[in-house]
Amino acid sequence: PLVSMTEMLIKAKDEGYAVGQFNLNNLEFTQAILQAAEEEKSPVILGVSEGAARYMGGFKTVVSIVKGLMEDYNTTVPVAIHLDHGSSYDKCKAAIDAGFTSVMIDASHHPFEENIETTSKVVEYAHSKGVSVEAELGVVGGQEDDVVAEGVIYADPKECDELVKRTGIDCLAPALGSVHGPYKGEPNLGFKEMEEIGKLTNMPLVLHGGTGIPTKDIQKSVSFGTAKINVNTESQISSAKAVREALAANPEEYDPRKYLGPAREAIKTTVIGKMREFGSSNKA
Ligand code: G3H
Ligand code: ZN
Repeated sequence: PLVSMTEMLIKAKDEGYAVGQFNLNNLEFTQAILQAAEEEKSPVILGVSEGAARYMGGFKTVVSIVKGLMEDYNTTVPVAIHLDHGSSYDKCKAAIDAGFTSVMIDASHHPFEENIETTSKVVEYAHSKGVSVEAELGVVGGQEDDVVAEGVIYADPKECDELVKRTGIDCLAPALGSVHGPYKGEPNLGFKEMEEIGKLTNMPLVLHGGTGIPTKDIQKSVSFGTAKINVNTESQISSAKAVREALAANPEEYDPRKYLGPAREAIKTTVIGKMREFGSSNKA
């Protein structure tokens, strides 16, 4: 069923695993992620950036595709459609009105008070519709679609505590050294802060930039209260590789199903691997 993230994240935090947010870019991504979740009996969060929604047609298109596939596939596992890095109250509201069951309001680049004000407004509207809300503090490095960062800023534990108490959000993404896109060398995550923020806020924490984080760091993050891990780039890399290989093997090919089909399989394999690594398999 289509649900918000609230219950799946509380359960994940209680039972010591993380639910994956897998970003979708087109029909094949959506198919692959839903198929992986059902096969693994795993809850799943479909991450939709504003750029991806724009590419696919708009928020309503995304919701219709997801709902259609869930009916055709007889999906039984919990699925959330989540706006990734929502840039404003208006965008979050538009996603909610189109049928998204969860939103992230990313006001982390605004001054603290403004972040609190915008986030509170989103929470008020979202909760009136049964929709969950993720907020961010600090700066995640790298680039994802419209979200571009010059450097990395670690979230401040006291600010995290205050934001959680004053806004009523359902989960918190404290930037602690993670990066969108591939890492240059090993990631250097702020586990001391993560532990402190987990204890102070008692919130399910979210780890952005899930591509390229070693298993030991995933496990440490989960042990400190991380209940949601976002993955985008790794699925993109595996699908692009599959398309290149399919076309290289048969340069005359023109049927999209012959090169997008293998891409879909590659995404599915990537997602299944992550679900097992995050411990969400057989938790639906
Ligand atoms: O918001 C989405 C994620 O943080 C994805 O990060 O592309 O590095 O896996 P990634
Ligand atoms: Zn992110």
